[in-house]
Amino acid sequence: MTRHDPHSYADLTQGKIAHIDLHIKTDFDTHILKIEAEYRLEEPVSGSLFLDTVGIDLKQAIASGQNLQWEFDEQDELLGERLHLKNLDGVSSFTLAFSTSSVARALQWLPGVQTAGGQHPFLYSQCQAIHARSIFPCQDTPSVRFTFSAEVEVPKALTAVVAAEQIGVEERGESRIFRFKMPQPIPSYLFAIGVGHLAFRELGSRTGVYAEPEIVEAATWEFAENEAKIMEAEKLLGPYLWGRYDLLILPPSFPYGGMENPRLTFLTPTAILGTRGQTCLITHELAHAWTGNLVTNATWEDFWLNEGWTTYAETRITEVLEGKEIADLMAVYDEHRLFEVMERVGMDSPLTCLKVPSEGRDPDATTTIIPYYKGCFLLKECEHVIGRERFDAFIQKYTGKYQFQSLTTEAFIEFLKQELPEVIEKVDVYEWIYEPGLTENRSRPQSTLYDEVQEILTAYKQGTRPTKEQIADWHRYQIFSFLQALPVQIPVEDCKYFEAILELENKNDAGNYMYFYATCIASGYRESLPRIEEFIGKIGRLLYILPIFRAMIASDWARAHARRILEQVQERHHKITVHVINKLLEEAGL
Ligand code: BES
Ligand code: ZN
Repeated sequence: MTRHDPHSYADLTQGKIAHIDLHIKTDFDTHILKIEAEYRLEEPVSGSLFLDTVGIDLKQAIASGQNLQWEFDEQDELLGERLHLKNLDGVSSFTLAFSTSSVARALQWLPGVQTAGGQHPFLYSQCQAIHARSIFPCQDTPSVRFTFSAEVEVPKALTAVVAAEQIGVEERGESRIFRFKMPQPIPSYLFAIGVGHLAFRELGSRTGVYAEPEIVEAATWEFAENEAKIMEAEKLLGPYLWGRYDLLILPPSFPYGGMENPRLTFLTPTAILGTRGQTCLITHELAHAWTGNLVTNATWEDFWLNEGWTTYAETRITEVLEGKEIADLMAVYDEHRLFEVMERVGMDSPLTCLKVPSEGRDPDATTTIIPYYKGCFLLKECEHVIGRERFDAFIQKYTGKYQFQSLTTEAFIEFLKQELPEVIEKVDVYEWIYEPGLTENRSRPQSTLYDEVQEILTAYKQGTRPTKEQIADWHRYQIFSFLQALPVQIPVEDCKYFEAILELENKNDAGNYMYFYATCIASGYRESLPRIEEFIGKIGRLLYILPIFRAMIASDWARAHARRILEQVQERHHKITVHVINKLLEEAGL
């Protein structure tokens, strides 16, 4: 058998799925989706077809009116169970009837109390990287693309959304049925579904937002600039080919900041600050519509092609929308974070290479920000050596040529060689991609706003605390930069002082707390623990809570609390969050 992707059982020499029609019934009592799915193949298949599944309860498999033979014949903790459809005799379509597991990895079923409204239950999915297989059997590798339609039956009071075009709604008894179609071929990891008590508001002619009624107005104000963002993104990346761009605001347990599901970005409610201060998160997810969703990494080893390109595009769009000063501040902050993480995993760890060999690696537990920022800095360096104008032409050619395709790192290098040979002469692309660490030989970002923060920090380290006035006008990223660069341990009195002068409590910005609470823990500020517990109990965004758990592991006094806190909050969080933190604690012997 030929495996094409270390994270999938799919053997692409057998044939590829081209289209799936999904009929989904939601059961909020048992936390199960009952699904009937008709699969169409690119070409007729004879012999075997391997599909990825995990926890799927298959009831029936039929092709041309006949029962198919099938078996789950391999199983692996990470990959799940291989569904082997047998003795296919030149079929080009088949139907599967099955149920998801009540603990399906991709799905979080929340009781009403964990939603903004407190009344109605909520369901949402997160398929990236390898969880689509827990919703429906598929070739769960980003190198296979398919179109689909979906019909979703939900209780009457709820609304279903799918990352696709909505084409109809109908009431039937106590249920409502929502119909969708996705005419653009997507990789399985971009399948997404959400069900809840949702309202919708238009933001512009092709943009809108779905959120619980309690927060929809705040979301509408916060993201009012989305239409303008698309126009800016189009200038850089080419025409937007997905039709609409809507948002779905999720409950705070959502494990990520955002997820670039096509036509419908899934978003953490912590992005709603009341200041429009975190819309770069939208810029990031929107940019994925090109870099990731249109041109897709072939395997998770090539993840930097998705995230590095997207982070690069994000910085370019931010530069236009927020100005160069802010973009430079963010770039210097990002560079410090990159160093922080590379030092944590080890400067010579393979995790610091852009192409990461990932056989046997759990993508959820090993994903870091390294491919984001190191990838972005590589692309900036390429831009730097040939000039923006030529690089911009290259970007448009790249998104145009590879649209709706998947790409390996090696194919990308070939394309770069062909289109911009001078880049290959001037930038050691191979070192950037295949060697650990970060080369000295590169242009470095500079920022006066960052330097201001550094001055204050230097004075602090020499014994002078900043005054409230000195930092009153700081940009959000200056505050982050300050908190990030504080000494690991500071006097408890200073923790209290900084919390007060930075007005962290009033700002309601969860981003501040990833560093601040880590500092509180390292500094032995024990009275902060109840607040930290409350924060972790509510916020599922891994980027924010992982540093807090790492600080607990590293601290003599807080170590003993880490496992207890996880156990206390795990019912409220997505399985991905619990799994990732559990792994971290296990590795620390907790
Ligand atoms: N696609 C990612 C989220 C993701 C990565 C999910 C890997 C599963 C596996 C998304 O675009 C993302 O990068 N989100 C970031 C925000 C971004 C601005 C750095 C996040 O969640 O923090
Ligand atoms: Zn991303």
